[in-house]
Amino acid sequence: MQEATLILIKPDGLKKSLTGNILTRLSETKLEIAAAKMVRVSEHLAREHYKHLMDQPFFPELIKYLQGDLHDRKKVMALVYWGEDSIKKCRQLAGATNPEEAESTSIRGAYGRITTQGLYENVIHVSSDTSEAEREIKLWFSPEEIIFDMYPFKEALIRETKKLVWV
Ligand code: PPS
Repeated sequence: MQEATLILIKPDGLKKSLTGNILTRLSETKLEIAAAKMVRVSEHLAREHYKHLMDQPFFPELIKYLQGDLHDRKKVMALVYWGEDSIKKCRQLAGATNPEEAESTSIRGAYGRITTQGLYENVIHVSSDTSEAEREIKLWFSPEEIIFDMYPFKEALIRETKKLVWV
């Protein structure tokens, strides 16, 4: 099945200069990059992304981690990969969520770690299934940032919205 996957290269991945390495690994899948950008993650975005984990003891640290507070790198690279079985292929390359259980040849197995507080610093996020992928992609990207019409969208006139513009 042709499907989309959200990938995040998290602040530890950026700090360890792993972007090139991770993109090269992902290119082996022959999937198409449908969107890509660097994001300064707001607390609101981080909390929305991980909202299903709100009750977990590690949630506050997880939010700080995604925002870059633990690595002095206030950015994340967000990408959408598209193609046949993209979720399965990307999750296989990423390895298990727990970096200590991930195969040593996988991205997380090679570069991830668990902090002394028990937080997984596992370098990348990969959507877990198609409905999560859709929710996450719509959270991180607007329709015009994706190179083809992946999900239905409409035109809306947004008034009174505060937006940064070039001076
Ligand atoms: S998964 O693999 O995405 O389906 O996992 P899920 O259970 O939905 O998400 C767990 C995310 O929380 C991060 N995290 C931890 N999980 C479990 N235990 C600990 N201690 C922990 N610390 C952090 C985990 O890395 C998952 O985030 P992502 O970004 O998907 O890796």
